[in-house]
Amino acid sequence: MFELDKLIRENIKRLVPYSSARDEFSGEAKVFLDANENSLGSPLPKWYNRYPDPHQQKLKALISVIKGVAPEHIFLGNGSDECIDLLFRCFCEPGKDNTIICPPTYGMYEVSANINDVQVRKAPLLDDFQLDLVHLENLADTNTKIVWLCSPNNPTGNSLNRQDVEAVLNNFNGIVVIDEAYINFSKQKSFLQELSDYPNLVVMQTFSKAWGLAGLRLGIAFASTGIIDTLDKVKPPYNIGQATQEIALQALENTGQVNDMILELTDMRSALADVLAQIPTVEKVYPSDANFILVKIKEARKVYDFLLTKAIVVRDRSKVKLCEDCLRITVGTEKENTDLVDALHEWVLMHV
Ligand SMILES: Cc1ncc(COP(=O)(O)O)c(C=O)c1O
Repeated sequence: MFELDKLIRENIKRLVPYSSARDEFSGEAKVFLDANENSLGSPLPKWYNRYPDPHQQKLKALISVIKGVAPEHIFLGNGSDECIDLLFRCFCEPGKDNTIICPPTYGMYEVSANINDVQVRKAPLLDDFQLDLVHLENLADTNTKIVWLCSPNNPTGNSLNRQDVEAVLNNFNGIVVIDEAYINFSKQKSFLQELSDYPNLVVMQTFSKAWGLAGLRLGIAFASTGIIDTLDKVKPPYNIGQATQEIALQALENTGQVNDMILELTDMRSALADVLAQIPTVEKVYPSDANFILVKIKEARKVYDFLLTKAIVVRDRSKVKLCEDCLRITVGTEKENTDLVDALHEWVLMHV
């Protein structure tokens, strides 16, 4: 049985959260002398001299409409990376608890666990990049607080089988995070609509990928109110700046443009995958549900270095277990993809 109360760290349960000036006042006012801001203004035309809404109410309201999830199930972080860190801080006792990851996967789960002194247990993906459910089950014990699943997975690009994810959600009594950073590029259904069925589910999404706002730093965690309230208690009071809130609101008014970009990127992903598969040194192009492609290529490290001489940077994953000899290539613009393919052809002419 999943009991959230047993998962929350004792010090967090006892924590009296910081109460900001803007928390203690609500209602209409004309004169704000409560937060030691610069009352004269700022060098900018906007009201950036004022602290932002610590609860990001307007932004959550709009996200709620677009995603069909009530605002009380939404937490906003300074990138998903902040959500990852806060989940560890809320639920994992340093030096005592452990967490399970399924490598090869996004690196920050492990780094963040290490920062928080949380033991990392690994249930590597199977050869087809799907979950090893037996291994996962064997690794979990009473101190396992969070399992991290990434779907579509970085760096492999595939989505995890839905039944496997459901098996974890049904059988594991801790928190199951499904990182859906790349979900917009996938035909697979998000787990967002499953939130009401699984009190242990956290779905993470981000503005960094399909929304094209990696520079803004805005990530979302969707979960039960108990989990969201705990994250809210621990987060820095003003973790999402005024500019970020305003720009995200503007972006959310342009879902049409984002959908067009998603279509264009997924079309270009197919075209690039086809062209890459024709290149003689390319041994395998893995199917992708994301905006990148994992490619197995002879002498991957040397190819990586060669691409650098052409001022093209891809991600070398050749030393990562199960991704031996692989490069991870983000789908670029038409011109960038052509430059990449031309450079690979040049490499082939020189070396094959
Ligand atoms: C799977 C996955 N999750 C999260 C992130 C980070 O997201 P954010 O930019 O919101 O911190 C990345 C970035 O590459 C990612 O690949």
